[in-house]
Amino acid sequence: EKGGYEHFMLKEIHEQPKAVQDTIGAYVKDGHVDLSETGLTDEKLASLKRIYIVACGSAYHVGMVGKYVIESMAGIPVEVDVASEFRYRNPILAEDSMVVIISQSGETADSLAALRLAKERNVPVLSVVNVVGSSIARESDYTLYTYAGPEISVATTKAYSTQLIAMYLLSIQSAFVQGKLEESCVSELLAEMETLPDKISKVLDDKERIQWFASKYANAHDIFFIGRGIDYAISMEGSLKMKEISYIHSEAYAAGELKHGTISLVEDGTLVIGVMTQKDLFEKTLSNMVEVKSRGAYLMGLTSYGNYSIEDTADFSVYVPKTEKYFTTSLAIVPLQLMGYYVSVAKGLDVDKPRNLAKSVTVE
Ligand code: M6R
Repeated sequence: EKGGYEHFMLKEIHEQPKAVQDTIGAYVKDGHVDLSETGLTDEKLASLKRIYIVACGSAYHVGMVGKYVIESMAGIPVEVDVASEFRYRNPILAEDSMVVIISQSGETADSLAALRLAKERNVPVLSVVNVVGSSIARESDYTLYTYAGPEISVATTKAYSTQLIAMYLLSIQSAFVQGKLEESCVSELLAEMETLPDKISKVLDDKERIQWFASKYANAHDIFFIGRGIDYAISMEGSLKMKEISYIHSEAYAAGELKHGTISLVEDGTLVIGVMTQKDLFEKTLSNMVEVKSRGAYLMGLTSYGNYSIEDTADFSVYVPKTEKYFTTSLAIVPLQLMGYYVSVAKGLDVDKPRNLAKSVTVE
């Protein structure tokens, strides 16, 4: 049942090209985004003035990526909340808005409660769900199913990757119907999106190097992930993957925040992973890498092919194929998933069923 892999997590990491391809295939038809299966109409998308994305854990991190992508591509303001906060903060929900609930299982208690709150306030709900017929899917106005297939490992990987595709699709179509994207740009973006499965496979080809590096850090006490913009959102997910299965304390920081406190935690040998896929922010994060290096940090840099100047600063560099700036998460997350996985394996832990955690959190 694990298809020859040692753990479900590793199997599911390798299923990502197919999961991503299947999700794209379900909603991209003849060079256009077709969301008719979800019930969402172009009229509805055209009327949207604000989007609230609500989710828990990794799905929340997808929402963070969604915010960056939708705001910069479609120009629609997006708020992102963890569901357990949203439901108790008496949120102000604007007119012509939509709540987007992201959930692999479709059964997460706080996300379901957030959905019900939105409905009580008469705000339409789009859910992005992997499990067909789950509670969240049933109660939403519109459901965009992800096609990851069953995910067994507690640490989500392939569902996360398909949720990212859902964000790109929502963003591209909203931008198009709101007149922010020309048809030719839509075609270019979709053509690039269709290259992601192959590019993910290329990243997976690098796994032995990552395994080698990860096994050196099995005894680390703290690991820090830093980045800016989308790279910060990727850092958050990389850090969660690391801590949930390796039990190593890890934190993600917006790189510019380091000098407001966190940098005092950096000691000789502390591993700091800099995520630097965004061209316009590369130099900024690099300067933060230099700062932590001078405090003794050991640096791993994660960037795209071509940015070889990272090697002047980073002690270990990982490259992912080049892609459209909005889509870099789909590639950069893979080495971080592998890092968490191989650290957990090196420590001999129960990768698929980490202590204290459940696959689906049905109590608040
Ligand atoms: O089923 P959901 O997507 O609603 O689950 C949300 C979180 O519980 C989930 O993403 C959790 O953070 C994962 N264990 C992360 O790998």
